[in-house]
Amino acid sequence: MSESDKEKQKKYYPEPELAKNARVKSMDDYNNIWKQSIDNPDKFWDKEAKMVDWFKPYSKVWQSPKGDGDDFVGKWFVDGKLNVCYNCLDRWVEKGYGDQKSLIWMGEDDTLKEYTFASLKDKVCKAANALKELGVKKGDRVCIWLPMVDDLAISMLACARIGAIHSIVFGGFSAESVKDRIDDSDCKILITADEVMRAGRARPMKDNLKGIIETCPSIEKVAVVKVTNGDVYEYEKDVNYTALIEKQSTECPCEEMDAEDPLFILYTSGTTGKPKGVVHTQGGYLVYCMSTNLYVWDYSCLVDLKGGKPSERDVWYCTADIGWITGHSQIVYGPLALGAISVMYEGVPTWPHKGRFWEIVQKLKVTHFYTAPTAIRALMKYGEKEVNKWDISSLKMLGTVGEVCNWPEWIWYWKVIGKGSTGEKPVGKPIVDSYWQTETGSYMMVNFGAITPMKPGSCTFPFFGINPKLLDEDGNEVKNTNTQAYFAYDMPWPGLMRTVWGNHERFVSTYLSKFPGHYYTGDYAQIDDEGYYFILGRADDVIKVSGHRLGSAEVESAINSHPKVAESAVCPYPHSIKGSTIFAFVTLMEGVDPSEDLKKEIQNHTRSVAGPTVKPEVIMFADALPKTRSGKIMRRILKAIATQSEIGNTMTLANPDVVQHLVEERAKLGKIEF
Ligand code: PRX
Repeated sequence: MSESDKEKQKKYYPEPELAKNARVKSMDDYNNIWKQSIDNPDKFWDKEAKMVDWFKPYSKVWQSPKGDGDDFVGKWFVDGKLNVCYNCLDRWVEKGYGDQKSLIWMGEDDTLKEYTFASLKDKVCKAANALKELGVKKGDRVCIWLPMVDDLAISMLACARIGAIHSIVFGGFSAESVKDRIDDSDCKILITADEVMRAGRARPMKDNLKGIIETCPSIEKVAVVKVTNGDVYEYEKDVNYTALIEKQSTECPCEEMDAEDPLFILYTSGTTGKPKGVVHTQGGYLVYCMSTNLYVWDYSCLVDLKGGKPSERDVWYCTADIGWITGHSQIVYGPLALGAISVMYEGVPTWPHKGRFWEIVQKLKVTHFYTAPTAIRALMKYGEKEVNKWDISSLKMLGTVGEVCNWPEWIWYWKVIGKGSTGEKPVGKPIVDSYWQTETGSYMMVNFGAITPMKPGSCTFPFFGINPKLLDEDGNEVKNTNTQAYFAYDMPWPGLMRTVWGNHERFVSTYLSKFPGHYYTGDYAQIDDEGYYFILGRADDVIKVSGHRLGSAEVESAINSHPKVAESAVCPYPHSIKGSTIFAFVTLMEGVDPSEDLKKEIQNHTRSVAGPTVKPEVIMFADALPKTRSGKIMRRILKAIATQSEIGNTMTLANPDVVQHLVEERAKLGKIEF
């Protein structure tokens, strides 16, 4: 084994002082609590649910499912009544912490808005009253398409306060994607912005809705946040949301919600062309977000001050966009319900300079920093000097999410950001590798920062109450170590999604049917000799670009909507920063000549239809695509052609002869490296 392979397979240890004050103090404690949580989940979750202030206590922790195809999830905290916004804000004010910091928002231009629990509550009440004035009632759906302005967090809390269900669409998605999501869940209101500030420039947002928002029948009002006050497209249903909020009262009662009422819908990509509206609930989701954040990160927060002063709480900074589940659970709901200080930043990590994250760490004395491997890879490229300009000594723990954190970025993060050692027994600031999904609400497999010995690339062990299973095609448990298997869980937990909005059957068929009695993740995983879990990637047609989930079929339908395209198929292609990018095989309409200009045209078209993040970076024209006799495109073969690797068996193809031709065409493109 080479020296560097030995380094990669070593265990890395959290600084020992962290364990002294930790909530879970040792791996023995972790193992004991985990076992208890699996043997008696009701007891474990009952204890965790005490962290929530309930308006009316639940009568039962968990009620087993009663048919409707769901033999798994059931109901959590039955008959319990609560309000999530109350738990994030009001209760801290009522307990005397009103003047303590809650959300710290920082703008691209360095504007700092340091909300206390009281001032955030006032602003949220005003926004909630504004929504009421626009006719929003309990159970109504509100679509939110905003950049990372503080009004985004405020709007979601305002919805939660009055019992409206928010459906947030990532600001980088296209207006067409917004329309699809509005139509799917009949949103009554759209909250959006006039323009977006990105890398120092105002860019269009509202203008992109022209010609599209008019075709959304359910929309009654478009509430416009004035970010730049730019002169943009005006629609007859527009309301100046910023002005409307200002004139409202700061009094707005919290709606009493049932634990199982939906809190939000968040659309995510799957294997078909239509994104799924993942539905999360009030009670179970909140308890799960709080419990995971508390034990994994161990930051000091109001729910349990560990003897400290409220003003000496740690500072938590999650760099995700709130348009993704990470932002929902780890910027807003989890940290605020725990009474933590949560940082929200408007901009990108590389503007106005390449050390922006580290500058924020210095400025706000961030103690816990959580980002994505793709961001680490991007920043790594600029070298240590960009980091060393800043004082990042406030940091106690680091973390990653969204995809595997591979060795090069892992060790850079460990050494350069965490200042970890590399000797016989390396010790340093923990890197929390959190594996989870939009569907799971919060972390599933994750190291407890203060205590778990780490292995680079491994998300280590399950969170409490989570029982992972590695299965073969027939659902038998795979006991062998280092063997690729389907990754599933055999018991429910409170934070699991409850349904796909308007399509319960799809929920059951996507997640619960492949392995009856299990939730199936769609991922491959394996376990090593010491029981560490390694996620090997998606087993389905989902592509991860910069940690963002894209459905192959969605990208293909955007490409196919170009008038000169007859058909297309996409597959992931390695990218040194994004992890993967999109490689597209495109068959043109009869008589259309292929050209480099046409490739650019197709790329631009795809981005305008599906959003600026969706770019087929390589396009290869193909006369035909390899298909099975039933007409299904064989992506496995396309992936091998794209990456110029072993093609494998082509026996099941209806047209095996196209493969050789595509291999030759691919060779003509030469070496492609990103
Ligand atoms: O493939 C896994 C990968 O991201 C998928 C979930 O994507 P999404 O719903 O967008 O949620 C991302 C943020 C929670 C998973 O099915 N994934 C997520 N975290 C990790 C990961 N793969 C490896 N290691 C991780 N830590």
